[in-house]
Amino acid sequence: MVEPRVYVIHENPEWFPPLKTAFDAEGVPVEEVLLVDGGIDLDAPPPPGVYWSRMSASADTRGHGYSKEYTRAVLSWLESWGATVVGGSRVLELEVSKVAQHALLRSGGVEVPRTTAAFGVGQLLARAREFEAPFITKHNQGGKGLGVRRFDSHAELEAHAASPDFEESADGIYLVQEYLRAREPFITRAEFVGGRFVYAVRVDTSAGSFELCPADACVVPDAVGEVSAFSLRRKIDASHPLIRELEALLARAGILIAGVEFIETEDGRTVVYDINTNTNYNPDVEASSPVSGPRSIAAFLGGLLEETRSEALQSA
Ligand SMILES: Nc1ncnc2c1ncn2[C@@H]1O[C@H](COP(=O)(O)OP(=O)(O)OP(=O)(O)O)[C@@H](O)[C@H]1O
Ligand SMILES: [Mg+2]
Repeated sequence: MVEPRVYVIHENPEWFPPLKTAFDAEGVPVEEVLLVDGGIDLDAPPPPGVYWSRMSASADTRGHGYSKEYTRAVLSWLESWGATVVGGSRVLELEVSKVAQHALLRSGGVEVPRTTAAFGVGQLLARAREFEAPFITKHNQGGKGLGVRRFDSHAELEAHAASPDFEESADGIYLVQEYLRAREPFITRAEFVGGRFVYAVRVDTSAGSFELCPADACVVPDAVGEVSAFSLRRKIDASHPLIRELEALLARAGILIAGVEFIETEDGRTVVYDINTNTNYNPDVEASSPVSGPRSIAAFLGGLLEETRSEALQSA
């Protein structure tokens, strides 16, 4: 029989080394499932263990256009056999839809940016007219901030939509969103593991980029002496009212591992605009934090693995 272990389902091998190091340090057996090909015997049970899907909405930008479909297939098979799955079908559907993320956040009672979903490019242009400039547009199926743009006028959007730079949304759905004017040029990303707050990261946005991937693999080497855009935001802890609301919201939605992003605005609002269930941890933040994101994940999934082992023993 195969030794039970934690299976990590994703499609980007560059994300695995920091996770592997953390699992080894916690003494939890782990195996990467790179879902870029392969297959499953639908009539056979999955090997015993814990399955964690961290499939990314931006898989297609790495040449893995079908990985999301493969993950849908694998998750429905795992769930049909009653396997222990973290980041199951519902979470995948949330990861690939900013509409679903917005709906969840709004229904959970947190403040969200005013947003319209437009079906097709024609409607994107028409619906954007209902927003005062500046406004933001996004692709429903985002990730890495791709397709997130700020427009300072409607004419600018119209020119962009007609230009060769225009990228179509993968599912035809575009978001038009209120531009959030930050009180200070940073966003905050709160990390949760096992449904519990781990730490909050301050991401400096003064350079103006909307592509804010925190992973080691995405980091452009800093010029000598340059300060990292990512730092630990110590003032935000588990007792912060928004963090408590987010923990409750994630619990209701069955989301165990996530990074949630918000902006504190000039006019005094704290507005939540993004839930990432494919979350990576920044090395500078990890180096200065007393708790580690990947270690928290390894410990949490290791605990689930122990539970599945003892259940298997009881039923044997
Ligand atoms: N409504 C907004 N107003 C101002 N800035 C915004 C707004 N929405 C997004 N941004 C900026 O753009 C960045 C990327 O947006 P968002 O997080 O929605 O995209 P994403 O594709 O999910 O990115 P990622 O996968 O990196 O989280 C944000 O971190 C923020 O800096
Ligand atoms: Mg984001």
